[in-house]
Parts: sequence; C-alpha cells; structure tokens
Amino acid sequence: MEKIIVLGGKGGVGKSTISAATAVVLSDLLPDKKILLISFDMAHNLTDLFNSEIGNKLTLISDNLWAIEPDPHKYAEKYTKNLISKMKALMREMPLVGLIPQIEKFMDTTFTADSIPLALKNAMFFQEILDAENQQSQKFDIIVADFPPTGNMVALFEIPEDQVKVVLKYSLNFYNSIKDAVRKFSKVFRNIIKPFDDPKKRRELGKEIFKMLVDLEERGERITELIHTFGSLRLVTIAEKPSFEEIKRARDLTEKYINLDGVHINLITPQHDECEFCSNVRNIQLNYVGQIRKEFKNLKIWESNRLEKEPFGLKGLRNLAREVYGDINNPNDILSP
Ligand SMILES: Nc1ncnc2c1ncn2[C@@H]1O[C@H](COP(=O)(O)OP(=O)(O)OP(=O)(O)O)[C@@H](O)[C@H]1O
Ligand SMILES: [Mg+2]
Repeated sequence: MEKIIVLGGKGGVGKSTISAATAVVLSDLLPDKKILLISFDMAHNLTDLFNSEIGNKLTLISDNLWAIEPDPHKYAEKYTKNLISKMKALMREMPLVGLIPQIEKFMDTTFTADSIPLALKNAMFFQEILDAENQQSQKFDIIVADFPPTGNMVALFEIPEDQVKVVLKYSLNFYNSIKDAVRKFSKVFRNIIKPFDDPKKRRELGKEIFKMLVDLEERGERITELIHTFGSLRLVTIAEKPSFEEIKRARDLTEKYINLDGVHINLITPQHDECEFCSNVRNIQLNYVGQIRKEFKNLKIWESNRLEKEPFGLKGLRNLAREVYGDINNPNDILSP
C-alpha cells in the first residue's frame, strides 16, 4: 500500500466524479501499479459513472484499475458470522435456556446481520481496505476512496477505533435481553439445572468470544494506522459560500484522523464572452476562489471548470481528469501534491 486518497466535501460538488477521474488518470500514468476505486457512500454511484455494473465485487475497469461498491450488509454478515455463531452456542450453554423450545427461533431472529447497527455496517467499508492490504494475489498499491458528504465522512473516520465498542454494545444488548429471563428461570429451577450446567464450557466460549472482539479491535486499530500513514484527504468544494464553509468545518473535524493535502474547487462556470449572466456568475465564483485559496494557502488547490458534458464513462472521466489536473506527466503531482 502506498497511498489512500480520500475525497470529501459537501453533497453534490463532484466527489465521486473527481474520485473516479483521479483513479482513471493514475491508472493511465502508473501502468505497473494496481489501483482500487472504492465507494464509501451507501448510495453508491460508481456504476453510473462508469456505465458498467460494479456492485459488491472487485470489478476490472481497465488493465490495472478495479472498482468496488461494497455492500455493507454482506460485509456485516461475513465478519460477524463467527461471532454470532459463538454467541448462539453460549446461549445454548446457559442453564435451561438451551431447553426452551422457542430459543432457536428467538436467536435466529435476534442474531441476524440485519440487527447489526448501521454504524457497524458502515465500518465494514474499511474492511475492504484491510483485505486489499492483506490479499497476496491482489495487493493494491493505491486506493482512491469516494466518501459520503461531510457529516457521514466524520462518522466513518470515527468508526474503526470505535467498532469494538459498537460490537460490545450490540452483544451486551442481546445478552441483557435474555439475561433476566434466564435468571428468573435459574432461581426457580436451581436444583433441576445443576446436573445440566457446564460452566467450564461457558467460560471457554466466553474466552473465544473475547478473542474475536480483540481481533476486531486490532483490525480497527490497523485501519486507523493505515489511514494515518497513507491517507491523503482532498476536500472538494464549489465556489459558493455554503460549500466553502463546509470544507472549513470538514478540515477541523477530520484533522485528527487524516492528513489534508489539497482542495478541489470544482464546477466553476467557464468564460463566455457573449453571455452576460455567465460572466456575472463566474465573477462571483472567482471571488470565492480567491477566498478559498487564501483560507487554504498552504495546500495544493486544483481548479476545474464545469464541463459542457457530464463526465461519464472512461472517456468522460479522462476529460475531467485533464480539466482538473491539466496535462500531467508526473503522477506524484497527484499522489503527493
Ligand atoms: N467538472 C464538472 N463538469 C461537469 N459536470 C460535473 C463536473 N463535476 C461533477 N459534475 C457532475 O455533477 C454531478 C454531481 O457530481 P458527483 O455525483 O460526483 O458529486 P458528489 O459530491 O459525489 O455527490 P454526492 O454528495 O451526492 O455523493 C454529477 O452529475 C456529475 O456528473
Ligand atoms: Mg458521490
């Protein structure tokens, strides 16, 4: 892993499109590197951008460029499957609980990936980055991550460190939901239970569950570390007040998680001599461009005009990349601005 480029900013300013264009131009400039474009937005739109079905699988876009729109529900299922089965086993081992006729059904309906909180499901996006790091056959050198708008972006950054707490809370909620019933039962049937009770087995299962939680915590820590080490945030804005204000807030809210390396000012109205309205709009926007440059004066600023055609497909995205980055020969201008 060499770089994780993260694009963030207000809704609708061009995060996804610039992410895709960035991944495409990097794959063109670096034919020997493997590039992964990944959508972190639950409302994925990479499929629309590339005019080809992507979805929850690594999809080859060109020789060295892959894209994926992870399905957090599937990931939640995959990563909690063992935990869920161990917790079920533990329930069965609790005195008498295993003998309650409805218990299997109760566990099956309570312990499902559906009942996993949304926050934890969101964390599953990061697992894809870890998998990308760990997979021997398919190690990606550069990851470009298309993030959701600011509020959700900040929540996402918090998740890897917090995921254990979320899992614990989830597990405890479940445990609490049946504990009282078990306790009442146990009191009444204390003497009947004794011969069937095997606290040693329960302790073993408890240890295994604890180990899984520790493992999950380690994964979370590794993700945070990867983002600290290789992460490079670029905030996308348009030359208007609300979006400008939002990237200032985004800068403050994300600084403890990831390095901010640049700002994209997108969708600037191009010069049209014969259109007075366009000139007026452009002048207002250029005033904001000046303010944004001043506010982020230590950072790389990329300006890009609104293209006449929406940038779809590889051709459209290469077009946008040229608009954003100019005629670039050195990929480091993009990777380490
Ligand atoms: N430079 C540009 N020229 C023309 N159209 C553009 C440009 N940049 C983005 N667009 C268009 O603007 C729209 C919004 O872009 P995009 O979906 O990338 O924004 P987003 O920030 O990812 O939005 P969301 O917050 O909803 O995820 C799209 O229709 C896209 O094609
Ligand atoms: Mg988007």
